[in-house]
Amino acid sequence: MSDSGLPRMMTGAELASMLKSSVNFKSLGGMRSPVLTLPGSKKQWWRDCKVGMFIHWGLYSIVGRGEWVRFNEQIPDDEYEALTERFDGSGCDMREWASLAKDMGARYMVMVARHHDGFSLWDSPGSYKAFTSMNSAAHRDFIREYTDACHEAGLYTGIYYSNMDWRFPGYFDPEGKPESALRMKQQAYDQVRELCSRYGKVDILWYDGSWLAHKGSDTSAAWLWEPVKLNTMARSYNPDMLINPRSGWEGDFYCDEGSHEVKGSIIPVPWEKSMCICSGTSWGWIPNDPPLSLDRLITMLVNVIARDGNLLLNIGPRGDGSIPEEVAARAREFGAWLKENGEAVYGTRGGPVQPVDRVFGTTYHDNTIYFHILDRGAFQALGPVRMPFGMAENSVESVSIHGIPVDFAQEADTLSWEFPQGLREETDTIVTVTLSAPVRTADDPEIYFTGKE
Ligand code: GLC
Repeated sequence: MSDSGLPRMMTGAELASMLKSSVNFKSLGGMRSPVLTLPGSKKQWWRDCKVGMFIHWGLYSIVGRGEWVRFNEQIPDDEYEALTERFDGSGCDMREWASLAKDMGARYMVMVARHHDGFSLWDSPGSYKAFTSMNSAAHRDFIREYTDACHEAGLYTGIYYSNMDWRFPGYFDPEGKPESALRMKQQAYDQVRELCSRYGKVDILWYDGSWLAHKGSDTSAAWLWEPVKLNTMARSYNPDMLINPRSGWEGDFYCDEGSHEVKGSIIPVPWEKSMCICSGTSWGWIPNDPPLSLDRLITMLVNVIARDGNLLLNIGPRGDGSIPEEVAARAREFGAWLKENGEAVYGTRGGPVQPVDRVFGTTYHDNTIYFHILDRGAFQALGPVRMPFGMAENSVESVSIHGIPVDFAQEADTLSWEFPQGLREETDTIVTVTLSAPVRTADDPEIYFTGKE
């Protein structure tokens, strides 16, 4: 905090130069609202979770050419709407999705309730032209099934909602067709109310698509959406719900989207990387899109948590709601790795040692620091690690690899250890350093990224 008691303002350019980071936060510069700001203490559960599962599933999953297919291919309305006759959910069991999320090591889920195509996956009186899964071959309220499954499985429940909807001419021309734009806004208010009031506890509201006419960013159309009003209503049902920044309000955490590599220093605000588990860029199912390698996923996770973020991994079920076996298998492998190494992931924070790109990063919890070493040779070439605090206050009690103690040497503020001969090669070699006292770090700074250059 600055002397004024207000968060320090930081522009997008300053942020970029401070972090020298490859993350590209979306929706910077959202409206500010003291009424909506949650204290850091109410975000700790989310930061402890570290891993979430994202689900994109809708009519577009039947077509298999990405969730933007309706717009990209300018599919005529009647043709796209006729997909409802084939949307039967015959392979969809939300309990299986939730169980796969747990097997993947996710502690929360975020499911797309309505994407830009306008099709709602629940019994939604507010849906424009009643374009819902109740009026599809399935006749099911998938958000009911999903929220029940999350609650039963003990997963935190997140809902994705796209404010914009391509069916409204006013989306493309808000000034020329204000009535249509306002009708779209009405739908958003009605549907957010439904989603937040009818399905028990919602832990995360994950907006998307608040830009207009495919121009600007999520924050540039705040004049239309009035996000403070919208989110005050949403929070009236779930007072502690976390909300992402993509409705035009600054939100509770920052979002980095896509599978680009994460580099740079520790990011001093709550943030989340969302990306597809598959190698393509489509969030909705497309055929023959193989999952990323386990190695790639673990490396991404390490790079994210060492910079204090969460990883939201997206899965696109097929049109019938089933999850391709090779995708499920990779998700399980990832979860198996987390099961073995979760102590160095869950409930940790990024740091205290600044990461070195492609070489290592650290996470910590109480009096333990976990070194995640991605390139052992390069790590050793760096020499002893400089710790961010003096060893007199935090002396090292032990250093171990896979539970086996190794010899170490500590000096004023440096630490080094021996890697045992014949240690197996791994994507992430985790070295556990136990200190005599809890890791001391500064309080979370309160920073507001304005998004201005
Ligand atoms: C983008 C896309 C969308 C996808 C989302 C996921 O905003 O418009 O298709 O759902 O990213 O974060």
